[in-house]
Amino acid sequence: MSVRLDATSSLSGREVLRRGLQVSPELVQGVWITLLLAVLAAGGRVVVPMAVQQTVDTVVLGDAGAGRLGLLLGGAAVALVITGICSALVNVRLFRSSEAGLARLRVTAFRHVHDLSALTQGTERRGSLVSRVTSDVDTISLFVQWGGIMLLVSVLQIVAATVLMAAWSWQLTLVVWATFVPLVLILRPAQLRVSAAYARVRQSMGAMLGAISEAVVGAETVRAYGVEQRTQRRIDGAIHDWRQAQVTAQNRVATVFSSGVLVANGVLAVVVVVGTLLGIGGGLSAGRLLAFLFLVQLFTGPVQMATEILNELQNALAGWRRVLGVIDTPVEIADPDGGGRGTARGAARVELDGVEFAYPDGPTVLHDVHLDVPATTKVAVVGATGSGKTTLAKLVTRLVDPAAGRVLLDGADLRDLSLAALRERVVLVPQEGFLFDGTLADNVAYGARGADPGDLGRVFDELGLTDWLATLPDGLGTEVGQRGERLSAGERQLVALARAHLAGADLLVLDEATSAVDPATEVRIARAMSELTAGRTTITIAHRLSTAEAADLVVVVDAGRVVQVGPHAELVAQAGPYAAMHDAWLAQTS
Ligand SMILES: Nc1ncnc2c1ncn2[C@@H]1O[C@H](COP(=O)(O)OP(=O)(O)OP(=O)(O)O)[C@@H](O)[C@H]1O
Ligand SMILES: [Mg+2]
Repeated sequence: MSVRLDATSSLSGREVLRRGLQVSPELVQGVWITLLLAVLAAGGRVVVPMAVQQTVDTVVLGDAGAGRLGLLLGGAAVALVITGICSALVNVRLFRSSEAGLARLRVTAFRHVHDLSALTQGTERRGSLVSRVTSDVDTISLFVQWGGIMLLVSVLQIVAATVLMAAWSWQLTLVVWATFVPLVLILRPAQLRVSAAYARVRQSMGAMLGAISEAVVGAETVRAYGVEQRTQRRIDGAIHDWRQAQVTAQNRVATVFSSGVLVANGVLAVVVVVGTLLGIGGGLSAGRLLAFLFLVQLFTGPVQMATEILNELQNALAGWRRVLGVIDTPVEIADPDGGGRGTARGAARVELDGVEFAYPDGPTVLHDVHLDVPATTKVAVVGATGSGKTTLAKLVTRLVDPAAGRVLLDGADLRDLSLAALRERVVLVPQEGFLFDGTLADNVAYGARGADPGDLGRVFDELGLTDWLATLPDGLGTEVGQRGERLSAGERQLVALARAHLAGADLLVLDEATSAVDPATEVRIARAMSELTAGRTTITIAHRLSTAEAADLVVVVDAGRVVQVGPHAELVAQAGPYAAMHDAWLAQTS
């Protein structure tokens, strides 16, 4: 049941295109009109050479008069304006459709990352998925906006130039192609070396930024352990590597650029020589020969950029393939076929029946867990760190599905229930409840749509938190800051409890925070907890003796197995892991 993100990364270029257009149909909306405009724009590139040819052959060397010249110039001017407008329209249209398509791709991908997030994906993994999607879509966008346009225009202008040349002199056209193609092939390896050099630049840039940001973020640790010098050496080394890579890349670019100019001039020279010879033979007029020289430029320009464009095309395809890979990763936690059923509200009974679980590519972390939690029972789950308590909480709230066995809510397998019905009845209060930038009221009302200030007041009142609220500068309107940074750890827990109370679930799963809080807040939290859990089924992952003592049932987890179940008093009296844990707690507090 593991989630593999590279499942679709084997798509061929054509499949990427097909699937990509399926996800973002906006990309090809009105593409025919854009293509037509592009053909017109490319046609415009040959207007000047044609005007030159006509002027030379009919006015300069021929017997046409000034009227003919005026007509030619006027016609050329009008044609240039029209093609200018066409090429502007092509740019705008390509930009619009690509941005619309890429926006759709971003939305789809980020939504999907969010759906995946409820799974086995850790926060880290999610973060890296998000940054991967962001940078990949940027790569695609860069290509479409620059490379794509260049590619389209270049190809069309080479075609237009070839057509015109062939109409004038097929011999000279053959000569142009015959000199041009081998020269391009000779340039190609040099261009590849440029790409490789730039790949090195990007890589060393990443390493440099990594080294710097680690030193900045970890400044306190660096100082505390007195390793400034080592850190500095690493940064210096990274900067040096980066500079080195830049210099190499620039040198190669200079070489390729000059070779490109050489190639362009070489082709021109050959055209002049062969063209003159043809002209002497009477096959080619002076005007056409001159126009040929202009047309050859339409070839050599794009070739200078061809490698860069092809590279970007390849990067864009690879990026597209990866983003589609993310989008096509199946979401495991989804509504059952047909949407799933609802359940009747009221205090919930929870059963675990032979549950096993393993994280992707990991060992089994829960083994054959059987547990029966009758309605309104308060359960405390205790166990050493890494024993599987949080995993148990994820299974009961269906953030993950068991590999074997079943989790039942009032006798129904969680996988048969609609997620909406499940989320209404079951709420998880995570170890570190996340607060969003906003007011206290926003944060408490987060999971409960349509809550009014009266409801919020009632929640604080019922949890015995009115006096705490009064100590805050703006009461419910207090801004909590990003991630709730303006509140203390204990206060954030109180907000998380109020949020859970307002959500009014039938089954509460609390992953008790481990962060130490001051005694006054500790008392407040304990009081709010006992109010919150009254009349509800609750499963609390307990790190405090007081929580275990207050529970109806204590469940002891050890290395993924439930090893003891019973009331606190009973378990304390037995020789076993719980009694040992209890002694340790007592030793700690006395
Ligand atoms: N996202 C994950 N991917 C892979 N392995 C994980 C993941 N989360 C937890 N594990 C592993 O599963 C086991 C149980 O972890 P779990 O978080 O359930 O422990 P815990 O009892 O809640 O520990 P703690 O008291 O420290 O919170 C551990 O061995 C842990 O390494
Ligand atoms: Mg945990």
